Amino acid sequence: MSQPLFRTPKGTHDVLPEDHQYMTYIKKAVRHRARQAGYKRIDPPMFENRAVFERGIGEHTDIVEKELFLVTSHHADEDEAEFALRPEFTAGICRSFVENGMQQLPQPVEFYAIGQCFRHDRPQKGRYRQFHQFDLEVIGLKDPSLDAQLIHVVTKIFSDLKFLERMELHINNIGTAENRKAYADALRDYFIGKERNLPELDRERLTTNPLRLLDSKEGDTQILLKSAPTLEQFLSPESKEYHATVLDYLKELKIPYIEDTRLVRGLDYYTQTVFEFWDKETGAQNAVGGGGRYDGLIELFGGKPTPGVGFAGGMERMIWQMKQAGVQVPHKDQVDVFVAQLGPEAKKKCLTLISNLREKGVHTLGALGEASLKSQMRLADKFEARFTLLLGKMEVKGGTIILRDMKAGKQKEISYAQAIPTIVKLLGEQALDTYTIRDQIGDIDED
Ligand code: HAM
Repeated sequence: MSQPLFRTPKGTHDVLPEDHQYMTYIKKAVRHRARQAGYKRIDPPMFENRAVFERGIGEHTDIVEKELFLVTSHHADEDEAEFALRPEFTAGICRSFVENGMQQLPQPVEFYAIGQCFRHDRPQKGRYRQFHQFDLEVIGLKDPSLDAQLIHVVTKIFSDLKFLERMELHINNIGTAENRKAYADALRDYFIGKERNLPELDRERLTTNPLRLLDSKEGDTQILLKSAPTLEQFLSPESKEYHATVLDYLKELKIPYIEDTRLVRGLDYYTQTVFEFWDKETGAQNAVGGGGRYDGLIELFGGKPTPGVGFAGGMERMIWQMKQAGVQVPHKDQVDVFVAQLGPEAKKKCLTLISNLREKGVHTLGALGEASLKSQMRLADKFEARFTLLLGKMEVKGGTIILRDMKAGKQKEISYAQAIPTIVKLLGEQALDTYTIRDQIGDIDED
């Protein structure tokens, strides 16, 4: 083995071909379900003015305080950095909504996005510095049915990918911004005199973002919280009714859920509904996806008050779930035909033969650089080709070619002119990798 001089930066990895099969499969499911429900694709840039994230996600969230990848257009120091790599899609999409005057469009405007996100977190299993999200956003209307329908689309995607059974949906209502402010004040009052018993991080949070104490993993904090006021006590009657209606609609759609009053989520823009999908066994660690309502976000970007609700799933975590569930991903990477040749004349003819087979939609490989027939046949085996077409000096002269069925281990000589029609017949028209304009439209956003 040679020693690599370079490796991927910490927390990043190559998406190797095997995982790409999963990625492509997930993207197909997302695109399909999104299209069915009227969502349109949007791609905000990978980096934005850092203020988009600082303002949108919140100054005192982990994502902004600790995890933003800052980008400068010149070699200035961090304080001068103008831009940041996107840690998520929602803030950028809402910035775009305002920038492009989408309030004029029929509401709600529904978007989906798929792509890389960046968070400078401490890497561990399921937590990376570059990862992929698929994201759904419904902007412009507020109604419990929209929250329930969004969750429904997510369950359809997870069900298509065959790991829904492994998930449990946790849902909560964190009230309006006013409800939360009143609660945060009450929580601070409650902790007066008790701060010393809080772990340092939570003591800090008490001043900056007290709601985050609720989902703190610290035992001491949880014990102290047992007799603290609860967020529920501060929810307005409207928030409570809103929540009850969302749950009622979920029941109607036959979506099981767990009401979880500790669920607060790590981004500041949420109002009312918040939810996450957890692995039934491992729980909150490595949530597969999460989302919620953000009725004040568009206004933060200069738009008129416009409600929204959305969700993002972590694709690496989804792939892990699929592997755990034993999902075999169908793929189109099989090799149908391996073309082997011997002699300069044969080699030349094979250039056209390979090209014509590919044009027909036959996945064709050849090892024109290999001299020996034996090594070519070994390659055909390694690539698990279904058929081999073999052209030697004799065959060129006689206008024939040898067709070998690799599995059956049988071969026969056929006329050269019949090579392509015979292969097409053996594979079957449906197995050919061709595309029509219709497919092309569907696959335009292949990335
Ligand atoms: P989030 O909970 O921060 O929400 O991220 C959504 C999902 O992205 C997580 O559940 C997880 O699967 C994945 N994820 C997050 N960070 C990492 C990481 N470092 N490595 C691997 N996967 C990760 C949002 O991003 C919101 N924008 C969701 C949303 C959309 N809310 C409203 N609309």
